[in-house]
Amino acid sequence: MDLARLWLGLLLPLVAALDFNYHHQEAMEAFLKTVAQNYSSITHLHSIGKSVKGRNLWVLVVGRSPKEHRIGTPEFKYVANMHGDETVGRELLLHLIEHLVTHDGRDPEITNLINTTRIHIMPSMNPDGFEAVQKPDCYYSEGRENYNHYDLNRNFPDAFEFNNVSRQPETEAVMKWLKTETFVLSANLHGGALVASYPFDNGVPATGTLHSRSLTPDDDVFQYLAHTYASRNPNMKKGDQCKNNMKFPNGVTNGYSWYPLLGGMQDYNYIWAQCFEITLELSCCKYPREEKLPLFWNDNKASLIEYIKQVHIGVKGQVFDHNRNPLPNVIVEVQDRTHICPYRTNRFGEYYLLLLPGSYVINVTAPGHEPHLTKVTIPENSQSSSALKKDILLPDGGHLDHVPVVSLSCPMAPLYRNLPSRSAATKPSLFFFLVTVLHLFLK
Ligand SMILES: *[C@@H]1O[C@H](CO)[C@@H](O)[C@H](O)[C@H]1NC(C)=O
Ligand SMILES: *[C@@H]1O[C@H](CO)[C@@H](O)[C@H](O)[C@H]1NC(C)=O
Ligand SMILES: *[C@@H]1O[C@H](CO)[C@@H](O)[C@H](O)[C@H]1NC(C)=O
Ligand SMILES: *[C@@H]1O[C@H](CO)[C@@H](O)[C@H](O)[C@H]1NC(C)=O
Ligand SMILES: [Zn+2]
Repeated sequence: MDLARLWLGLLLPLVAALDFNYHHQEAMEAFLKTVAQNYSSITHLHSIGKSVKGRNLWVLVVGRSPKEHRIGTPEFKYVANMHGDETVGRELLLHLIEHLVTHDGRDPEITNLINTTRIHIMPSMNPDGFEAVQKPDCYYSEGRENYNHYDLNRNFPDAFEFNNVSRQPETEAVMKWLKTETFVLSANLHGGALVASYPFDNGVPATGTLHSRSLTPDDDVFQYLAHTYASRNPNMKKGDQCKNNMKFPNGVTNGYSWYPLLGGMQDYNYIWAQCFEITLELSCCKYPREEKLPLFWNDNKASLIEYIKQVHIGVKGQVFDHNRNPLPNVIVEVQDRTHICPYRTNRFGEYYLLLLPGSYVINVTAPGHEPHLTKVTIPENSQSSSALKKDILLPDGGHLDHVPVVSLSCPMAPLYRNLPSRSAATKPSLFFFLVTVLHLFLK
């Protein structure tokens, strides 16, 4: 740190004055704008769209290059308050923002995180719902849904069955946002329970529904991610802290095992946006009293920071042709964990694959080329602040400039419909049905 910066550091208050009260839209905007002004070199504030009532959907980006992607720097995001009456996540994200910006250059862990990661933070996806709450309540308040009475966590396209709902402006805005960045890892902050829940939320027999669960090919990674969060939260990890008799071993669960839902955001992120997302239920009470907010911040601070770091597990790199031109839209998948909608390189030819330590075969398939297989071994250094870097050079072969342009986006239709064993579908048991009804108003 040079002398001028040190001097400035002494002048700026270390703790920017963010109190532990609930911040309504106006106060939240004022806070975000001041942060963006005070810390302009590491933040970028923008709105990804508007709610039904015309409120901005704010996102604050924190990073060394906040305005644009840098090759090799993974994109991470947190989204909170998509259910307007689940309020803890909203305030925690404001405190996380403050913590990040005030510790840059002072705390090596945070400085390193800001140096190596682009962190997108959306404190409220449903500002209309939050403002609509008349009487804060632990179990049910108006304001869960958006202004048109749609549950936003049932409003996304679904990979397993047709989701016949009118897509809401808040959902459209998020879907559009996901196309503009190569998000790698994400979490969606809710309330009403205390658990880290991982995909899938919906399913078919081919994903395990006959055994009351629905698992992705990346289940090991998802379990690890959920544990990373839950194990650092002293109450969540106990798994039974809410007075509703729900028990979650170690504070984690598969989404479908808890209860199935249609049109959720985490499944959409994983399938269509190539982004691993989990759902965090942060408080037994959906809308607790303000006096409790400091306790929630204490319980979640370490988890929130450690979870961001997980965007650096696995392997990343660029795919090039034999002339060293980066190749966009090339399929890059790990053998035996292929995605129903294959993961592809972005416009810079980059890929990011979240993997646990071990040996894997990466299968790179460019149109007009034979699949190119590369072996990688992810080492056991858990403290690393970068994924293993592995650029892949495709041998001279097909004529990449002359290959027909294939359709690049996956269809927005149910993709698992034709998977085998679908015909073996059975009706959920009565017990399962009751569990579903009882828990419909959480995630
Ligand atoms: C921004 O800087 C001003 C002047 O130093 C300070 O009073 C204020 O608390 C800061 N606010 C935030 C949110 O950083
Ligand atoms: C972070 O980046 C800054 C500016 O680029 C650099 O001066 C500093 O040494 C880096 N710190 C860490 C911990 O990586
Ligand atoms: C979708 O919902 C609309 C309005 O409820 C209904 O008219 C239409 O038939 C539905 N379509 C399908 C394919 O279920
Ligand atoms: C590699 O991926 C391509 C395209 O997804 C697929 O057709 C092929 O079977 C895969 N090859 C291997 C050896 O996994
Ligand atoms: Zn919720």
